[in-house]
Amino acid sequence: MTRRPLVAGNWKMNGHRAASAELDALIAAGRPDADVLLCPPFTLVASFAERASGSHVAIGGQDCHAAASGAHTGDISAEMLADAGASAVIVGHSERRADHGEDDSTVRAKAEAAWRAGLTAIVCVGETEAERDAGRTLAVVGAQLAGSVPDAASAANLVVAYEPVWAIGTGRTPVTSEIAEVHDALRASLASRFGADVADGVRLLYGGSVKPANAAEILALENVDGGLVGGASLKASDFLGIIAAA
Ligand code: PGA
Repeated sequence: MTRRPLVAGNWKMNGHRAASAELDALIAAGRPDADVLLCPPFTLVASFAERASGSHVAIGGQDCHAAASGAHTGDISAEMLADAGASAVIVGHSERRADHGEDDSTVRAKAEAAWRAGLTAIVCVGETEAERDAGRTLAVVGAQLAGSVPDAASAANLVVAYEPVWAIGTGRTPVTSEIAEVHDALRASLASRFGADVADGVRLLYGGSVKPANAAEILALENVDGGLVGGASLKASDFLGIIAAA
């Protein structure tokens, strides 16, 4: 099974309209040997999707509500993201889990919502530093995967991102053998639940301080099919360096 690499940028709460110049630079750089997804803040999703229309750059959201519509002030539904031109949405990012108290069942409901709206769900899992130090990484990540991924997973609708919480925005990354261990375990766990065909097709991204300088060795790992990139996705020049390594 050859999985096409996916490099996804997560802008988090960064980016005003002037940042469309970065999107333009990604588009102008031409079609790489990887899928490219940019997840800007909600305010930019529609304009970026319009700008990127017909190019190789897809646009995604960073979160969605589980419901399609209703009295949820400040929230955005998966249907709204789809209507704005998004094709994917990140769910269960550790910043959402920590800042908004999202647990696995919340994340699972959001992934269901993404599929209901026709979006790819990028489900994030990852251990804290204390959990790693306690030797609980595989147990924590395995439980998050089991609890956060709904039953209707397929190679087309699901991407899983392994993002150690302690590696996000810190400049620290696990050594490649530690990344490989988790990604191998994630693939095995998907295979036992969904069967080999689904598991072989689902793309597993690594995220947490990915940058041009470390992307090649991380993305070369057998079960790492791309990256989820925060800080280094804000500038097209850095992001392109990572995309080139995929
Ligand atoms: P980072 O963030 O690349 O800035 O570490 C990654 C993420 O949180 O998705």
